[in-house]
Amino acid sequence: MLYRRLGRTELQVSELSYGAARGAAADPSAFIATVHAAIDSGINFIDTAADYEQGDCEHSLGEALRGHDDVIIQTKYQPYDGWGGEASYTGSPDKLVASAEESLRRLRRDRLDILLGHAIRSPETLDRFMNDGCYDAMTRLREQGKVRFIGISELSTVDGTHDVLKRAIPSGALDVVMLTVNFLLQTAVNSVLPLCVRHDVGTVVMMPLNQAQNDSGLVSVPAALECVRRHIAAGYLPNEAPYTDPHLFDFLKPYTVPAAALRFVLAQNVSSCCVGTRSPERLRENLCAVDPPYLDRPRLDKLRELFGKIRGQVR
Ligand SMILES: NC(=O)c1ccc[n+]([C@@H]2O[C@H](COP(=O)([O-])OP(=O)(O)OC[C@H]3O[C@@H](n4cnc5c(N)ncnc54)[C@H](OP(=O)(O)O)[C@@H]3O)[C@@H](O)[C@H]2O)c1
Repeated sequence: MLYRRLGRTELQVSELSYGAARGAAADPSAFIATVHAAIDSGINFIDTAADYEQGDCEHSLGEALRGHDDVIIQTKYQPYDGWGGEASYTGSPDKLVASAEESLRRLRRDRLDILLGHAIRSPETLDRFMNDGCYDAMTRLREQGKVRFIGISELSTVDGTHDVLKRAIPSGALDVVMLTVNFLLQTAVNSVLPLCVRHDVGTVVMMPLNQAQNDSGLVSVPAALECVRRHIAAGYLPNEAPYTDPHLFDFLKPYTVPAAALRFVLAQNVSSCCVGTRSPERLRENLCAVDPPYLDRPRLDKLRELFGKIRGQVR
């Protein structure tokens, strides 16, 4: 495992990190086994959130991380009343502090390494979060030593061009951002990532496999082709060859689609690529992507030529 600098935090984080977002409620022992497989493979950075499975993910993560105080945990407070783009902003400093205290209790830590405002989904609600006392509450927690570093994550399904991050990063207020980069949504590569370098902000990539669902996602050739069909239906890609060709992804061979997708992310100037899985076997499979130079220039160029103009996330 290789480690990269997480921006101004100066933390050294594993280039592949683990997304502890699902599975704790249904099968806590499999969840804990996957966390242990991550640590055994050299992963030292785990993302979670207070509202993943109503706190069950944090709770099981706290159990899994007993005796692993050196693992860096990033968690989040969501200031909305739902997951979608239409949810209302309900953030308040009191709720943020209460959520952070609950996270500390569930994670069995006396300090959170990183606390993010979760899925900030519009410039308007970003401004509210920064000015209604929520951001000040985060900085107070940092001053009190309850949190080491602060930042936000975006909601790329409604903000595929990263308007929130483009507004937030130059303010200098954030240590870390979590954002979507994958070969179907490359919009951050020449916009947000250089901004992060300029402002020395750590970049944690989410959804590297385009948040794979049952039949769509960057996890197999049929699922990736289904993703392409959905992009055509949404008007982001033309309904013509090569997008309609069942052999569209042949050029990625000998890599599998998930391996190529992770290699695409790791080839970018990001601090860490956070991938979610409920299976220790898949986690170990994903480690094959940790292999510089990750993806060669001809395949990177082909992915940019095919998908570099897509401006919205479709799952
Ligand atoms: N706004 C936000 O702050 C936000 C939003 C989304 C995600 N996140 C964070 O980012 C992390 C990563 O994103 P994500 O989990 O949503 O999306 P993702 O990593 O793109 O995709 C995860 C999905 O891919 C499957 N998968 C993983 N490795 C695979 C492999 N080698 N072969 C086949 N399938 C594989 C997993 O299935 P199985 O579980 O069945 O293995 C899971 O359904 C999350 O875990 C979460 O911590 C944050």
